[in-house]
Amino acid sequence: GRTAALIPAAGSGTRLGRGPKAFVEVAGRSLLARSVAALAPYVDEVLVALPAGLALSPGVNARAVVGADTRQGSVHRLLHATSADTVLIHDAARPFLPERVVLALLEAAAETGAATAALPVADTLVGTESGDSPGRLWGHLVPREGLWAVQTPQVFTRAALLAAHTAAEREGFTATDDAGLIAWQGGRVRLVPGDALLFKVTTPGDLALAEALARNVEA
Ligand code: C5P
Repeated sequence: GRTAALIPAAGSGTRLGRGPKAFVEVAGRSLLARSVAALAPYVDEVLVALPAGLALSPGVNARAVVGADTRQGSVHRLLHATSADTVLIHDAARPFLPERVVLALLEAAAETGAATAALPVADTLVGTESGDSPGRLWGHLVPREGLWAVQTPQVFTRAALLAAHTAAEREGFTATDDAGLIAWQGGRVRLVPGDALLFKVTTPGDLALAEALARNVEA
């Protein structure tokens, strides 16, 4: 069957403070252009959800739809804009995408219908006590054993993900990613080893790290 890459790229980039995040450049190339180019070799088509009023730059080989107020809403619109059997969802904000991860995800999803990149948590996890500011107080320790940090890409059967999105919208359920919607529906999601390179560019510090990486890798 056909596979489409769906890239939610309609975020405003508030925490980064550089305008719509997908259009921010790293070493002369936007986060969005990097994500599109990284995925194009593995799929039949690439669709991106953009902020209203913005268009794809020339040379970015993808189809654009207007995004929504939330990531979940943007992905829902992308799902309606393709008829592919399999969809690979990837945040524009994760510009470094190892081939190994894409291939492993496509293989896993062919078996289970749902798979996501994820990494075992390496840091100590702690909940804070409320009400102490500035700074916070150490509250209760959360054992990190068995905990994974979920990344994208995530790969699904389109029909199953669309059904999950439709049910979530109807019932007012929200999740921060698509695997969370499948799991909420009782579906099984396979975890595939992700990569530290798949970090999400969120803060100015992340952008500096991305710049350094891009200059090193592309030099
Ligand atoms: O805000 P955050 O970094 O979690 O966003 C993850 C991805 O979802 C980004 O690529 C962002 O552009 C996208 N997004 C979207 N529509 C929104 C909010 C975020 O497509 N309304």
